[in-house]
Amino acid sequence: MNEKLWAGRFSKALDEDANDYNASIRFDRRMYRQDLEGSMAHAAMLAATGIIAEDDSVKIIDGLKGILNDIESGRLEIDLTCEDIHTFNEQELTRRIGDTGKRLHTARSRNDQVALDIRLTLRAWTNDVIELLIKLINVICDKAERYSDAIMPGYTHMQRAQPITFGHHLMAYAHMFIRDIGRLYDALKRLNVSPLGSGALAGTTFPIDRSITAKALGFDSACLNSIDGVSDRDFCVELASALALIMTHLSRFSEEIILWSSWEFKFVELDDAYSTGSSIMPQKKNPDIAELTRGKAGRVTGNLVTLLTMLKGLPLAYNKDMQEDKEAIFDSYDTVKLALTVFSPMLETMRVNTENMRSAAAKGFINATDCADYLVGKGLPFRSAYKIVGSLVAYLINANKTLESAGLDDYKQFSDLFENDVYEAINLDNCVRKRACLGGTCPEQVAAQIESVRSQLTSLTTK
Ligand code: ARG
Repeated sequence: MNEKLWAGRFSKALDEDANDYNASIRFDRRMYRQDLEGSMAHAAMLAATGIIAEDDSVKIIDGLKGILNDIESGRLEIDLTCEDIHTFNEQELTRRIGDTGKRLHTARSRNDQVALDIRLTLRAWTNDVIELLIKLINVICDKAERYSDAIMPGYTHMQRAQPITFGHHLMAYAHMFIRDIGRLYDALKRLNVSPLGSGALAGTTFPIDRSITAKALGFDSACLNSIDGVSDRDFCVELASALALIMTHLSRFSEEIILWSSWEFKFVELDDAYSTGSSIMPQKKNPDIAELTRGKAGRVTGNLVTLLTMLKGLPLAYNKDMQEDKEAIFDSYDTVKLALTVFSPMLETMRVNTENMRSAAAKGFINATDCADYLVGKGLPFRSAYKIVGSLVAYLINANKTLESAGLDDYKQFSDLFENDVYEAINLDNCVRKRACLGGTCPEQVAAQIESVRSQLTSLTTK
């Protein structure tokens, strides 16, 4: 069964190792459905334009449908000794319907066929990723809503900086993932152009109608340059980049979850279903899922670099190097989908220790900015107020006191403007409540963010 599609010119079979090296069926078999659907659309177009007889087209399409059903139901196994999925499908068709099957490849090349198959495959998988991202964002919004007034220290340089709410911190990630969805949709626009009909590179002598296949396969249009049609893998790069950024976001989030679940922080505790133990240290509960996510971000970035490097030296049009696109981009999708699938429930079941967060916020003078702002309220220029509070903090550190435990006499040593109401100004709840500017950390602003993100999600899902 397994003759090369290109047998004819050759007097010898391909060397066995060279054959293995050349074959792509191990990975491109995952595109069997897209390859069959592309062929069905092509066969229908060939009949509509009178290039093949209607009867033949019907026979071909029925044959292809049969193959699809049989693969999906497990009755037909893809023969891994074939060169690629295109070879397998075409040979299986001819085995089933005889010589009529040999008419399918009229006005087509594997070059435009594979370009088509990848686009169809990545389009479907991108929609899966978007769905998983929507789920994750919903989990984030629910958690942020629950903890919209839970005070924790916000950090810069990993040093306690200013009080924030945990809800606000979580929502920062919601915005990242919303942008990720935007990037995927944007890449989909450029992906959704049909290369079918580009032929090997120059188009075809047959009077095909490329708009018929483009429409049948759900593309917005057909590409306007056949050479670009078979050479373009920009969409792979764009998607690989969007996926690498998703993993980067998940990785940053993971890093925080790893820190927060350490004994040093104890801000959160991961559910047992999303933690692992140690083979020697009985007390250990390790955040392996988060660690793996951080680790796997590396390979997804690697895939992007693989694709860019593979493309950078390629002359037009198709070159076999391009076969290397699939393993890289497929791996990015597999990794991101898996990561999102476990990350959402891990986050959802994560317990939050609001008391520890709050007591961490009570240390480290994270209300010093508010103390300076208080003096500004009394008429001082900010830079002068900043200096006064800086000296006050240095003094209190020495005296082993906090802004809360210092007496008014301590304050007065640094400025006469301090009065009893300073304690209200440095109260952590007030510090958070007063950050009420657009995008600020106060509970009302967090609620507004959640509402905005949720409504963006609704408009996505009703799109
Ligand atoms: N397996 C090839 C790929 O993935 C399919 C296209 C082959 N075309 C060719 N002329 N050899 O790129």
